[in-house]
Amino acid sequence: MDRLPTGFALGLCQQNKSIVKNALRNELNSVPYSHIQRRRYPMTDYSFDVPFSRDGTHAEKHERYRALKAIPMWVADTDFQSPGCVADALQARVKHGAFGYTHPYDSVNHATLAWLKTHYDWDVDASALVWLPGVVPAFNVASAAFTQPGNGIAVQTPNYPPLRSVAPRHGCEPRYIETVLESGRWTLDLVGLEQHFQQDDCSLFILCNPMNPCGTRLTEAELRHISQLAQAHGVQICSDEIHCDLLLNDEVPHLPMGKLDPNAITLMAASKTFNIAGLSCSFAVIPNPDIRKRFVTASEGWMSQPNLLGLVATEAAFTDGQDWLDRQMAYLRSNLEYLQAFMPRLPGVTLQAPEATFLAWLDCTATGLQHPFQHFLDHGVALSDGTPFGERQFVRLNFGCSRAQLAEALLRMETALNAR
Ligand SMILES: Cc1ncc(COP(=O)(O)O)c(C=O)c1O
Repeated sequence: MDRLPTGFALGLCQQNKSIVKNALRNELNSVPYSHIQRRRYPMTDYSFDVPFSRDGTHAEKHERYRALKAIPMWVADTDFQSPGCVADALQARVKHGAFGYTHPYDSVNHATLAWLKTHYDWDVDASALVWLPGVVPAFNVASAAFTQPGNGIAVQTPNYPPLRSVAPRHGCEPRYIETVLESGRWTLDLVGLEQHFQQDDCSLFILCNPMNPCGTRLTEAELRHISQLAQAHGVQICSDEIHCDLLLNDEVPHLPMGKLDPNAITLMAASKTFNIAGLSCSFAVIPNPDIRKRFVTASEGWMSQPNLLGLVATEAAFTDGQDWLDRQMAYLRSNLEYLQAFMPRLPGVTLQAPEATFLAWLDCTATGLQHPFQHFLDHGVALSDGTPFGERQFVRLNFGCSRAQLAEALLRMETALNAR
């Protein structure tokens, strides 16, 4: 072997040393969440009441109507800063500096299973978890797995627009289950649901519970009934439970469909709960191995992995985010009370108090407005238009914001109604 000139050898030696040093530093930077330098949580330095600016962050919610100077009260993300544990975990991971393909790992599974056990008393095996880049992709995978073109897909209406449009996207027929008002609470028309399930070609029901936009959390009796009907008629249930951690009335815990019915596919995420939806990460719980295999097979070749930073954030939030969540829920409850107290100043608008979510589904039929969304927008409040949800006479108001923002939006709505 040729001898290297001494100077070069020395240089190499030094280079090696710095390579080793860097490697050590990287090792330190890529330590698991449980080993990162964590601050003490609970952290009480964050106040939900202080308006939190998202300017300059390209937040979809704030940019869409910026030119109109309308207060953004629409898309379902909150204007709260995520828990400190999430930012700390992300910063520790970002320091490492390499962000290649990353598959879900034991500690994020562990944190998720612990969350399901603590919150829902649900014992789930790690093998039942399937990680995905979002809940919308997940219910599309379920549609690909459990329908043939021409089949019926049952979905409630009004509903989150991507749920209303899932059937045509898969060459299927939407079978709309009406939402009915019973004793001041929106619930599903279970008679209509049975009629749809009875049709031979109805192979899938994509439930949305808690409901977006109505805010209802279905009871155990309702869920049992749905599950029995699905079993009797051979309908696969896929339950979108993205809002399940956001109970405004927590006297009775949320019941995951998959806990009741192990053949169900249950879709969840930390995204709405902790305001991390931009990090593209969700999970399906599919206890039945045959159903899971069919779901996973249908996802192969076109569905990407969850975002690695989403996994990091989910683990941190599920591990250390409880105190933040408790305080967020207290704040959301007080915002809802404020909104309810304001309702008499919005003549013609009615609200059935949501049991979950940070969304208020406002019936504007009695205002006589042709298109309530446009009227409020013209007066400086950007709500969600009820039309793509299936109800043109409704608007959806997102009260996941500071009280000051909510109060200003309500004042503008009052002015808008007085200006009819
Ligand atoms: C019921 C429901 N499902 C799914 C989503 C979006 O899920 P993801 O961003 O994980 O695709 C939303 C967002 O508003 C929603 O309300």
